[in-house]
Amino acid sequence: MHEIIDQLEEKRRRAALGGGQKRIDSQHGKGKLTARERIELLLDDGTFEEWDMFKEHRCVDFGMAEQEKIPGDGVVIGYGTINGRMVFVFSQDFTVFGGALSEAHAEKICKIMDKAIQVGCPVIGLNDSGGARIQEGVAALGGYADVFQRNVMASGVIPQISMIMGPCAGGAVYSPAMTDFIFMVKDSSYMFVTGPEVVKTVTHEEVTAEELGGAVTHTSKSGVADLAFENDVEALVMLRRFFNYLPLSNKEKPPTRPTDDPADRLDYSLDTLVPDNPNKPYDIKELIFKVVDDIDFFEVQPDHAKNIVTGFARMEGQTVGIVANQPVVMAGCLDIKSSIKAGRFVRFCDAFNIPIITFVDVPGFMPGTAQEYGGIIKHGAKLLYAYAECTVPKITVITRKAYGGAYDVMASKHLRGDVNFAWPSAEIAVMGPKGAVEIIFREDKGDPAKLAAKEAEYKAKFANPFVAGARGFIDDVIQPHETRKRICRSLVMLRGKDIKNPWRKHGNIPL
Ligand code: HXC
Repeated sequence: MHEIIDQLEEKRRRAALGGGQKRIDSQHGKGKLTARERIELLLDDGTFEEWDMFKEHRCVDFGMAEQEKIPGDGVVIGYGTINGRMVFVFSQDFTVFGGALSEAHAEKICKIMDKAIQVGCPVIGLNDSGGARIQEGVAALGGYADVFQRNVMASGVIPQISMIMGPCAGGAVYSPAMTDFIFMVKDSSYMFVTGPEVVKTVTHEEVTAEELGGAVTHTSKSGVADLAFENDVEALVMLRRFFNYLPLSNKEKPPTRPTDDPADRLDYSLDTLVPDNPNKPYDIKELIFKVVDDIDFFEVQPDHAKNIVTGFARMEGQTVGIVANQPVVMAGCLDIKSSIKAGRFVRFCDAFNIPIITFVDVPGFMPGTAQEYGGIIKHGAKLLYAYAECTVPKITVITRKAYGGAYDVMASKHLRGDVNFAWPSAEIAVMGPKGAVEIIFREDKGDPAKLAAKEAEYKAKFANPFVAGARGFIDDVIQPHETRKRICRSLVMLRGKDIKNPWRKHGNIPL
């Protein structure tokens, strides 16, 4: 018996070594942790239960039959806890065939995804892979498709998070693309459909891997990734923090965290946040930080479409999603990128029972040929659709401008906003006074005095929250300093909210 037990330990030791010490050293030399070290950092101490440690590939082509088989086949899978809450994990092992995905490797990922869907727990993928195992051909491609199918089945059922910690190329990028959040590690991870060599051949562009698909590219330009971290350790520590905001599945409410921050805390500095000059910007993040629990706001996509701010926070300990126009960037107007960014965020919150707080200061949709040719009509409609479809509690605070279609879109009463507040500085109208007068009194173009008088009249009549208030489109005009208190009370009132959309196979969001 002792001998068998010793053999088991030896087998485990062999599997844990992955592609061997030399390749582990090379991984460390690149500033990267190994697949197992990453899991150790991500999960609570001693909670990892590993599956399929001894699984092997079945390939016999291109010299694979002659090579020693490495148990585990390039991916470590299992489950454990993060701050006591269950999560399934797969972590690709770059020391084994560059983490390339074989049929067996894919079966392992599918195994935990199936179980995670059945038991209702999130899946975190730590990606570090050279893509499809080249020696396996179509078997590896099939493996990818099996993972893709599960990504889609899990979407909206359990949270799925991808951490890109090395290469992620070719069709392999489409598994992370279908997960809810993609995080990257700076300087050591990249994602692209075709690499720099192919790009050079086809489009004659010369571009480095970093420029084409590095963390900076995807968190700022493309918006494919949500956040980038400095190194593996920071990435995993932040991932633990991020995980704490999320419910385990669509059947659960998000977790609550006890706080000493009083729900009725007043902040008088907010009374002077909005400048007297309506054209002067102010930082909407100041409002967010002052309203949420413990000045704690986890922003997602901070470097992409900065004219809208999205992220998670807590109110009285409960997770909330925040969406806010940012007057500091492009006056906070809605454009293609910001509509897509916020629309996707709203849908995540709705799928996972996270109430949404919307802070509105929006002069309208961005005009111009670039936006029209780019399809702002369809992309702007994504955000509109997302808010209109969403059934979680929706609380809206208009701090200043709420003009035109953007007023409707930003969680207005008409899109089933549950509680719609406005600050006294709110201006709710079809458009700003100057633009309105220039259109209505076009024939008086040569009479600046008359136009100025009409502008003042329009401003007095519409640049306030009371016209909307008179119609019940605004539930109350509140003092800025009491914003936190009023939102907290509303959230408590809305705890039992239960509305359902009509049955359908699925809607047809304007993709
Ligand atoms: C098999 C692979 C591999 C792969 C890397 N390796 N990628 N083995 N299949 N796809 C092996 C290497 O042979 C090497 O083995 C080890 O992994 C480490 O690779 P290196 O090249 O030494 O590492 P590095 O210099 O860091 O470069 C990493 C890399 C490069 C950029 C990922 O290996 C690379 O370009 N690989 C090929 C990428 C690729 O074209 N994949 C297919 C994409 S298409 P040894 O034994 O020397 O340690 C795809 C389709 C998916 O994925 C479609 C889904 C629908």
